Amino acid sequence: MRLNRFLARSGAASRRGADALIEAGRVRLNGETVTRLGTTVDPGRDLVELDGVTVALPELLTYIALNKPPGYVVTMSDPQGRRTVTHLVTGVPAGVVPVGRLDAGTAGLLILTDDGELAHRIAHPSYEIDKVYEVEAKGTLSEDERLKLERGLMLDGRLTAPAAVRVVSTARGITVAEMTIHEGRKRQVRRMFELVGHPVTRLTRTQVGPVELGELPPGRWRHLNEDELRALREALEMRPE
Ligand code: URA
Repeated sequence: MRLNRFLARSGAASRRGADALIEAGRVRLNGETVTRLGTTVDPGRDLVELDGVTVALPELLTYIALNKPPGYVVTMSDPQGRRTVTHLVTGVPAGVVPVGRLDAGTAGLLILTDDGELAHRIAHPSYEIDKVYEVEAKGTLSEDERLKLERGLMLDGRLTAPAAVRVVSTARGITVAEMTIHEGRKRQVRRMFELVGHPVTRLTRTQVGPVELGELPPGRWRHLNEDELRALREALEMRPE
């Protein structure tokens, strides 16, 4: 975000007043005086000072995308002492927690935030946020089985909602498919593939709504950028920030 907008939103000045403060050399960014009006700041990372006093946005929330490796448990602390995603996401505000769950054995995109309303909406089925998984399963998925997965299967006495399944490749007795669902039932993808006779050997979530895992290496995290956040809020029918 532009520095003048940051100052205005923090209540330090109007947008024009903020420009005047910047030009007057009264604003420091990460310890250095800035006088360039187009300067941008990352509110999650940068330190902004006015006349030597830290300036903060009234409600500074954190939104993170983590590429969870298999073997890490999605919880902030584990009484059994297993490795948790907290070990991977360090140096973030205390209230930042995972949104929804991924099985310990599942890899890929996990969003973490301290924005309770956004977290609630992502996890809530009524907003029907798509989650995309790359699935590696044993055997060759037939067209009939693919359609069964798409149309719905009985899980815990309830039919699963319509899904989209695309076979990416079939080789050496392994099918790779991309599955898009908006529900988040327990071990849903694994159980659905099991039901059509193809146990999952590897599962990776590649997308949650408009947020994509992209090239983020396993075990690493990044802040969501403004475009992602805007798109996510729009998909969740929330006011723009
Ligand atoms: N489906 C699963 O089976 N496991 C996950 O972690 C997520 C979706």
